[in-house]
Amino acid sequence: MCGVVGYIGNKEAAPILIDGLQRLEYRGYDSAGIAVSCGGKVVFGKEVGRLANLERELEKNPIAGTRGIGHTRWATHGAPSQVNSHPHLSSDGAIAVVHNGIIENYAELRDELTGQGHKFLSETDTEVVPHLIEQALKDGAASSAEALRSALSRLRGAYALGVLFRDDPDTVYCARLGSPLIIGLGENENFIASDVPAIINRISEVIYLNDGEMAALRADGVEVSTIDGRIVTPEVKKIEFKAEDAEHAGFETFMLKEIHEQPRILRALLAKHVMADGTLELGTGLSPDYFRKLNRIMIVSCGTAYHAGMYGKLLLENLTGIAVETDLASEFRYRDPKIDPGTLIIPVSQSGETADTLASIRMAKSWGCKIFAICNVEGSSVVRESDATFFTNCGPEIGVASTKAYTAQQMAFALLALYIASVRGDLTPEKLKEYLKALREVPDAVHYVIQKKAEIQLIGEKHHDGPSSLYLGRRYNYPTALEGALKNKEISYQHAEGYAAGEMKHGPIALINESLPVICICTKTADEVYEKMLSNVKEVEARSGRIIAVVSEGDTELAKLTDDVIIVPAVRDEFSPMVNVAALQLLAYYAARARGTDIDKPRNLAKSVTVE
Ligand code: F6R
Repeated sequence: MCGVVGYIGNKEAAPILIDGLQRLEYRGYDSAGIAVSCGGKVVFGKEVGRLANLERELEKNPIAGTRGIGHTRWATHGAPSQVNSHPHLSSDGAIAVVHNGIIENYAELRDELTGQGHKFLSETDTEVVPHLIEQALKDGAASSAEALRSALSRLRGAYALGVLFRDDPDTVYCARLGSPLIIGLGENENFIASDVPAIINRISEVIYLNDGEMAALRADGVEVSTIDGRIVTPEVKKIEFKAEDAEHAGFETFMLKEIHEQPRILRALLAKHVMADGTLELGTGLSPDYFRKLNRIMIVSCGTAYHAGMYGKLLLENLTGIAVETDLASEFRYRDPKIDPGTLIIPVSQSGETADTLASIRMAKSWGCKIFAICNVEGSSVVRESDATFFTNCGPEIGVASTKAYTAQQMAFALLALYIASVRGDLTPEKLKEYLKALREVPDAVHYVIQKKAEIQLIGEKHHDGPSSLYLGRRYNYPTALEGALKNKEISYQHAEGYAAGEMKHGPIALINESLPVICICTKTADEVYEKMLSNVKEVEARSGRIIAVVSEGDTELAKLTDDVIIVPAVRDEFSPMVNVAALQLLAYYAARARGTDIDKPRNLAKSVTVE
């Protein structure tokens, strides 16, 4: 969703805001703007389209000043247009606001404010905020902070706000409810941002603002308070990753870089959680006894993280004997799922800010359930609202299409399932050893697949041109088929469907003809579904489908059916999805490249979906 930045210090604000917005552009990229305050005026610039358009405009018409706010937009209310772009201003131009989130009661506030003589220029929900603040000042609020508080008390919905007052020259304000916002602490300068990567090159300490808090930033200090005026002593945290983690590092895109990071991330997770004596440590605070008594798990997540949850369900129910369900968070929150307080809820989220996942957590908490998150972002809302977290430790994922977060989530589930199975006695120490040995082969196998990218590129280029493609897999690799199809849709804009191969005969077989690429995930070691999958591939062949097969080394059977074979190392079936998906990520990547799309910032998408 949208990205917010702010700066106050002794340097020129505009270049710092633009740099922050460049690093946040993955959150939204249909328009951008900044406002800077100087010499008794708030001066702003905003442009439709990519940030580069705003940069060009600012080169022609520079904006000077040492405090300001900036925004990159993913449109919710009102089309991407200059007038709908942030910052939005009060009628007198003295207050500028940038916002991520949705003000749900904006229509009624707008009517009220219009009645009081305020004129609105945009179709956005955000524009009510500067007008509400302006009205509070007219109504006698004693200070900017008090006027902001009064405005915030009227808002329903979600917000991360940056606010600049012309007449309060030494301060930048911010506030948070339900949308992420951090404060970066520098030397005689301070920052606000939607997330750490936006300002990672400038600071090493942050305050994660809590919901219902606001802050006044000066160059030499930060004061945090609750919206109702109670001063808070914030916790200052050291940032765990380095500025280079949020750079391209010589790769043509962030997505390609992040695909390449996977073996290292998987190795690091193994090293962190598998002890020298071969036992597993989750380090989450949930006791082995808790897992021994557990009899139901519910996994909730969205998109790619949902596919990781589907994989987790298969592993957990297979290894532990616990009943496991999985649901899309956007559906779960409107179901009546009959969950008892003894059920463990596992939300899975890269960003930790996905609105539907958060709503599901809150709902499950109200039923008395424990929440054990799998999440990548420290300090995120999911982490803060959960009882315990397994961190996927991927570093910032900047490519909008998720890759490294997915395989790390899969590894998290593998380690979690093995841990629970071993503490419950579902796995003997010998069996655990065997599984861990197999799991340790995964990072190298993923590395091997990535090394074959030139071969995968040729296949991607050969099949990129059709209108559609079908991805088939079974059992552990059914989620892989869904994820492969999702990657393809997201970045190449080619329609793609993932299907459980056994379901093909129940409908999608009607699609198969000589022009439909059918990507068949058909790896094997001892999996009982291999033979079944092979029959499904033959059914595709019999109808002249263009088969692209992902097969295990040494499998000669499938090579007879197609020239387009991606050979991957044979790993234990349970863990093969981590290896196979790397091939599908690359396949989607090179198809998208051949189609000339903007891979890191696909159209209409936003990295972190903070609205429902
Ligand atoms: C797809 C993708 C999305 C996210 C989904 C959940 O490539 O990135 O489908 O997986 O929006 O996001 P998180 O994991 O941040 O909750």
